Amino acid sequence: MVKAEKHTAVVIVGAGVAGLTVGNFLRRNGIDCIILERRERAYVEARQRAGTLDTRGVRLFRQWGLAEVLDAGPTAEVQGDFFIDGQAMPIEIEEDDNESIFIPQQVLVRRLADIFLREGGEICYEAEVALMDIAGSNPAVRYRDSSGATVLIRCDYVAGCDGDHGITRASIPAGALTRYSYEFKYSWLSVLAAVPGTTSGMAIHTRGLAGLIPRGAEHSRIYLQCPVEDTVAQWPDERVWDELEARVGRSLGRGDILSKEIVELRSVVHDPMRHGRVYLLGDAAHIVPPMSAKGIHLALFDAETFARAVIAQVQDGDPGPLDAYSETCLQHVWNYQAFATWITDLMHNAGDASYEGEFRKQVARAELRRQFESEAANRVFSELTSGIA
Ligand code: APR
Repeated sequence: MVKAEKHTAVVIVGAGVAGLTVGNFLRRNGIDCIILERRERAYVEARQRAGTLDTRGVRLFRQWGLAEVLDAGPTAEVQGDFFIDGQAMPIEIEEDDNESIFIPQQVLVRRLADIFLREGGEICYEAEVALMDIAGSNPAVRYRDSSGATVLIRCDYVAGCDGDHGITRASIPAGALTRYSYEFKYSWLSVLAAVPGTTSGMAIHTRGLAGLIPRGAEHSRIYLQCPVEDTVAQWPDERVWDELEARVGRSLGRGDILSKEIVELRSVVHDPMRHGRVYLLGDAAHIVPPMSAKGIHLALFDAETFARAVIAQVQDGDPGPLDAYSETCLQHVWNYQAFATWITDLMHNAGDASYEGEFRKQVARAELRRQFESEAANRVFSELTSGIA
């Protein structure tokens, strides 16, 4: 039974980076919105995710008056290294050009939530959400809160910021969206280890790609390329450390291994990124492989495009940007899928030739050498070594 009924301009489903950014952008422009999040606050704000905010993201938060989220904290100074066959490659970049920062995603999420709540915004955590009337001009969202009370919110727009497994995209009728996807031929063993996040690096090696990325002051994440058929049971702790050291070409400080999982590398795009008045943002609309470190970038691009479009509609009565939302975002998404596919295959093909053969390995090596001679590409590699998702 519905206990309460409310109205707001935008219901935002999901309190991750996309949802909280949209919420803050809208409220700062006087547009009413409510955020509904399935998980409890403590869980969302402790979840270990990606760690790099690229230059565009840093400038975006400044432009929208949210510079306070950018304090990168004690891990900001971590230097990224890049190894090929155990040899460190020089990465030099013009400081003026590169404003990217290392900031654990959960820290960004916590700060965005703090600001949103401090300024009077409403977030309902532990909300069990259902979408209603999504084809029409008056969509509604019903949710049950942690006390068991059911609330119905009538709204003008729904922003689906609830990730790849959320309820928003799942509520859109089958056949309304086209799903484009690509599975890479290799996976990653992803390991969380209790090793202080002072070292950061990516290594290309005949044995496969390896990464060691800080996750806060106390922890690091290790990535090891592995066949898609591999299981965690094939990777005892000792083998993880031996393999990482072999690929990086030096001994490293070992620590307790806290978790291990096999991550499939894939790219996904849903087209269009809207259905009626329901809009999809961030991971709900697209997935980029973690190698590209561009998941946050795309979530922020969608958030800004959507917020600007709603503001244009509400403040100027201009429906154009909302009508163009999907097209605008998809053009950007496909450009980044192109980058993500290129960098992912390049980094893997240049190492272990058992996937694509020796010819493709030599091509990838030539391409890598060329990249290291270019300043723009150096920036790309510098960001990559500090921020894989
Ligand atoms: N109802 C409400 N909230 C939900 C539901 C649901 N049914 N399902 C999922 N959620 C919440 C999740 O708990 C999460 O807090 O939606 C939020 C989605 O946040 P993210 O997964 O962080 O996705 P997004 O905001 O799009 O950010 C994308 O996050 O993991 C990275 O690679 C990704 O960097 C990219 C960025």
